[in-house]
Amino acid sequence: MSADTPVRADTSVTARTSLHHVAELGVILVAAGRGERLGASLPKAFVELGGAPLLAHGIHTVTSLPHPGQLVLVVPEGHAGEALALADELVPEGSQWQVSVVPGGRERHESVRFGIEALHDTIKTVLVHDAARPLTPAAVFERVLDRVHQTGEAVVPGVPVADTLKQVDDRGTVISTVDRASLVAVQTPQGFTREELAAAHDSAQARAVTSGAGDAPTDDAEVVQRFGGTVHVVPGDPLAHKVTTPADLVMLEGTLLHSEANSFAPRSGRHSATPQSRAAK
Ligand code: CTP
Ligand code: MG
Repeated sequence: MSADTPVRADTSVTARTSLHHVAELGVILVAAGRGERLGASLPKAFVELGGAPLLAHGIHTVTSLPHPGQLVLVVPEGHAGEALALADELVPEGSQWQVSVVPGGRERHESVRFGIEALHDTIKTVLVHDAARPLTPAAVFERVLDRVHQTGEAVVPGVPVADTLKQVDDRGTVISTVDRASLVAVQTPQGFTREELAAAHDSAQARAVTSGAGDAPTDDAEVVQRFGGTVHVVPGDPLAHKVTTPADLVMLEGTLLHSEANSFAPRSGRHSATPQSRAAK
């Protein structure tokens, strides 16, 4: 193995082993980033919002969707046990959801690829979601999923761009104002047929091997676009905002206090003293 070969444990850990339902929906929750811009002492997915780790919010939302499914948690090396413990705490016995945990890669697209490799053979449709978007409403997942089923093509949630956008040169001088009308800011979950997502990632991987690192895609829609696929946009939601810097965390804490996103209530264990779960009792 060369120094450049991605290091990966080839075992996936599974929280619930018996599949009572044949799942056709797979959700890959990517949580393996370091969170450098957040600057916390923990990887970002384990930083708490409203008394529970960002990852817990995502697990709760996904496993509450009314479909049988497989949730693949892609987590930093050395955090699989912690992720499994969260899943055990949050996913009730008899759930239609089965949870797998795999270690992530150095780049996001590599983490997604490891997530795809962990999908059961029965999975036909895949949603890829950032753990860093903890308050994404279930309705966004459903919108994306419906559209993938309708079109058989890739679907992303998008929101209008609120700020005026300027194109600038490398000295910071404005060249022009960009017309916002045709622009959307893209969020996750992003939805795909398993077949297209897997083929697009394989092809991106093959290109990266032959051409060196190059410009890494920042989302899965870009991987599919480069593969020649069509990508549709459905309405996103401001609640799907991504935690990138400490200011984002402060903003979402405020949102939690003032919105119906405040319904997340872990069942038991170390998060049971959170304001949300107390309120739910
Ligand atoms: N991600 C991942 N594997 C990586 C990099 C990112 O699974 N190698 C995940 C992150 O955990 C996050 C999502 O992709 O849920 C979006 O990435 P980003 O917001 O950039 O998170 P980080 O990479 O953790 O943050 P930073 O770039 O500030 O280090
Ligand atoms: Mg990153």
